[in-house]
Amino acid sequence: MSEMLTKPVKRRDFLGIVTIGTFAVAMAAALAGILRFFRPTVFSELSKKYKIGKPGGFPLGEVRVPPGRSVYVFHDESGFYAISSRCTHLGCIVKRGHDEFLCPCHGSRFKLNGDVISGAATRALDWYDVSMAPDGQLVVDEGKKVKKGTVFFA
Ligand code: FES
Repeated sequence: MSEMLTKPVKRRDFLGIVTIGTFAVAMAAALAGILRFFRPTVFSELSKKYKIGKPGGFPLGEVRVPPGRSVYVFHDESGFYAISSRCTHLGCIVKRGHDEFLCPCHGSRFKLNGDVISGAATRALDWYDVSMAPDGQLVVDEGKKVKKGTVFFA
Protein backbone atom coordinates (compact mmCIF):
# COMPACT_ATOMS: atom_id res chain seq x y z
CA MET A 1 0.00 0.00 0.00
CA SER A 2 2.67 2.47 0.98
CA GLU A 3 4.49 1.44 -2.19
CA MET A 4 1.51 2.69 -4.26
CA LEU A 5 1.53 6.05 -2.50
CA THR A 6 5.21 6.64 -3.00
CA LYS A 7 5.40 5.23 -6.51
CA PRO A 8 5.28 8.06 -9.09
CA VAL A 9 2.45 7.98 -11.64
CA LYS A 10 3.65 7.47 -15.14
CA ARG A 11 2.97 10.29 -17.58
CA ARG A 12 0.93 7.96 -19.82
CA ASP A 13 -1.24 6.83 -16.87
CA PHE A 14 -1.77 10.41 -15.76
CA LEU A 15 -2.90 11.49 -19.22
CA GLY A 16 -5.23 8.48 -19.40
CA ILE A 17 -6.85 9.38 -16.07
CA VAL A 18 -7.28 13.03 -17.15
CA THR A 19 -8.79 11.95 -20.48
CA ILE A 20 -11.26 9.57 -18.84
CA GLY A 21 -12.16 12.19 -16.22
CA THR A 22 -12.75 14.86 -18.87
CA PHE A 23 -14.86 12.49 -20.91
CA ALA A 24 -16.95 11.55 -17.85
CA VAL A 25 -17.59 15.22 -17.01
CA ALA A 26 -18.55 15.99 -20.64
CA MET A 27 -20.96 13.02 -20.71
CA ALA A 28 -22.54 14.09 -17.40
CA ALA A 29 -23.05 17.62 -18.74
CA ALA A 30 -24.57 16.29 -21.97
CA LEU A 31 -26.87 13.97 -20.02
CA ALA A 32 -27.97 16.86 -17.78
CA GLY A 33 -28.76 18.90 -20.91
CA ILE A 34 -30.82 16.07 -22.38
CA LEU A 35 -32.76 15.53 -19.14
CA ARG A 36 -33.41 19.27 -18.88
CA PHE A 37 -34.91 19.21 -22.37
CA PHE A 38 -37.71 16.95 -21.12
CA ARG A 39 -38.58 19.21 -18.19
CA PRO A 40 -41.51 21.50 -19.00
CA THR A 41 -40.58 25.16 -19.25
CA VAL A 42 -44.03 26.55 -18.78
CA PHE A 43 -44.22 29.68 -16.66
CA SER A 44 -47.31 29.91 -14.58
CA GLU A 45 -48.85 33.33 -14.75
CA LEU A 46 -51.77 34.67 -12.86
CA SER A 47 -54.88 35.16 -14.95
CA LYS A 48 -55.69 38.81 -15.62
CA LYS A 49 -59.36 38.08 -15.00
CA TYR A 50 -60.29 37.01 -11.50
CA LYS A 51 -63.13 36.93 -9.01
CA ILE A 52 -63.09 39.01 -5.86
CA GLY A 53 -66.19 37.74 -4.11
CA LYS A 54 -69.86 38.60 -4.00
CA PRO A 55 -71.01 42.22 -3.70
CA GLY A 56 -72.74 41.45 -0.41
CA GLY A 57 -69.36 40.71 1.17
CA PHE A 58 -67.89 43.99 -0.01
CA PRO A 59 -69.28 46.77 2.24
CA LEU A 60 -69.94 50.26 0.96
CA GLY A 61 -66.88 52.47 1.44
CA GLU A 62 -64.42 49.58 1.42
CA VAL A 63 -61.32 49.63 -0.74
CA ARG A 64 -59.87 46.22 -1.41
CA VAL A 65 -56.56 45.00 -2.86
CA PRO A 66 -57.08 41.45 -4.10
CA PRO A 67 -54.20 39.28 -2.84
CA GLY A 68 -51.21 39.28 -5.17
CA ARG A 69 -52.74 41.92 -7.44
CA SER A 70 -51.78 45.49 -8.30
CA VAL A 71 -55.28 46.88 -8.19
CA TYR A 72 -57.43 48.89 -5.83
CA VAL A 73 -61.10 47.91 -5.99
CA PHE A 74 -63.49 50.52 -4.64
CA HIS A 75 -67.08 50.25 -3.55
CA ASP A 76 -68.87 53.55 -3.19
CA GLU A 77 -72.36 54.92 -3.79
CA SER A 78 -71.85 54.77 -7.55
CA GLY A 79 -70.89 51.08 -7.53
CA PHE A 80 -67.72 49.03 -7.94
CA TYR A 81 -64.64 50.07 -9.88
CA ALA A 82 -61.02 49.01 -10.15
CA ILE A 83 -57.98 51.25 -10.56
CA SER A 84 -54.49 49.99 -11.23
CA SER A 85 -51.95 50.56 -8.49
CA ARG A 86 -49.12 50.42 -11.02
CA CYS A 87 -47.60 53.85 -11.53
CA THR A 88 -47.70 54.95 -15.15
CA HIS A 89 -44.18 56.36 -14.92
CA LEU A 90 -42.06 53.25 -14.42
CA GLY A 91 -44.45 50.77 -12.86
CA CYS A 92 -43.87 51.06 -9.12
CA ILE A 93 -46.83 50.26 -6.88
CA VAL A 94 -48.57 53.39 -5.66
CA LYS A 95 -49.67 53.61 -2.04
CA ARG A 96 -53.08 54.87 -1.12
CA GLY A 97 -53.14 57.87 1.17
CA HIS A 98 -56.18 59.62 2.64
CA ASP A 99 -57.20 61.36 -0.58
CA GLU A 100 -54.54 60.46 -3.11
CA PHE A 101 -52.20 57.77 -4.39
CA LEU A 102 -48.49 58.34 -3.89
CA CYS A 103 -45.72 56.62 -5.79
CA PRO A 104 -42.75 55.85 -3.51
CA CYS A 105 -40.27 55.68 -6.39
CA HIS A 106 -40.17 59.16 -7.88
CA GLY A 107 -42.91 60.94 -5.99
CA SER A 108 -45.76 61.00 -8.48
CA ARG A 109 -49.09 61.81 -6.93
CA PHE A 110 -52.48 60.80 -8.27
CA LYS A 111 -56.04 61.68 -7.32
CA LEU A 112 -58.21 58.82 -6.10
CA ASN A 113 -59.76 58.68 -9.57
CA GLY A 114 -56.28 58.06 -11.01
CA ASP A 115 -55.64 61.51 -12.49
CA VAL A 116 -52.10 62.83 -12.17
CA ILE A 117 -51.64 65.57 -9.59
CA SER A 118 -47.89 65.94 -9.90
CA GLY A 119 -44.65 64.09 -10.41
CA ALA A 120 -42.80 62.16 -12.99
CA ALA A 121 -45.90 60.33 -14.27
CA THR A 122 -47.72 62.09 -17.08
CA ARG A 123 -50.57 59.61 -17.59
CA ALA A 124 -53.43 58.72 -15.25
CA LEU A 125 -53.68 55.33 -13.56
CA ASP A 126 -55.54 52.72 -15.61
CA TRP A 127 -59.09 51.68 -14.85
CA TYR A 128 -60.08 48.04 -15.34
CA ASP A 129 -63.37 46.42 -16.16
CA VAL A 130 -65.48 45.13 -13.29
CA SER A 131 -68.37 42.80 -14.06
CA MET A 132 -70.29 39.95 -12.50
CA ALA A 133 -69.74 36.24 -13.10
CA PRO A 134 -72.72 33.88 -13.51
CA ASP A 135 -72.16 32.68 -9.95
CA GLY A 136 -72.78 36.21 -8.65
CA GLN A 137 -69.19 37.10 -7.86
CA LEU A 138 -67.56 40.33 -8.94
CA VAL A 139 -64.90 39.92 -11.62
CA VAL A 140 -61.98 42.26 -12.27
CA ASP A 141 -60.40 42.05 -15.71
CA GLU A 142 -56.94 43.63 -15.81
CA GLY A 143 -56.75 42.73 -19.47
CA LYS A 144 -59.62 45.09 -20.26
CA LYS A 145 -58.98 48.78 -19.63
CA VAL A 146 -62.03 50.99 -19.40
CA LYS A 147 -62.64 54.72 -19.47
CA LYS A 148 -62.11 56.57 -16.21
CA GLY A 149 -65.39 56.67 -14.34
CA THR A 150 -66.67 53.35 -15.64
CA VAL A 151 -68.47 51.79 -12.69
CA PHE A 152 -70.25 48.48 -12.26
CA PHE A 153 -73.44 48.78 -10.28
CA ALA A 154 -74.71 45.64 -8.59
S1 FES B 1 -42.42 54.90 -10.97
FE1 FES B 1 -43.86 56.16 -10.03
S2 FES B 1 -43.02 58.10 -10.19
FE2 FES B 1 -41.58 56.87 -11.15
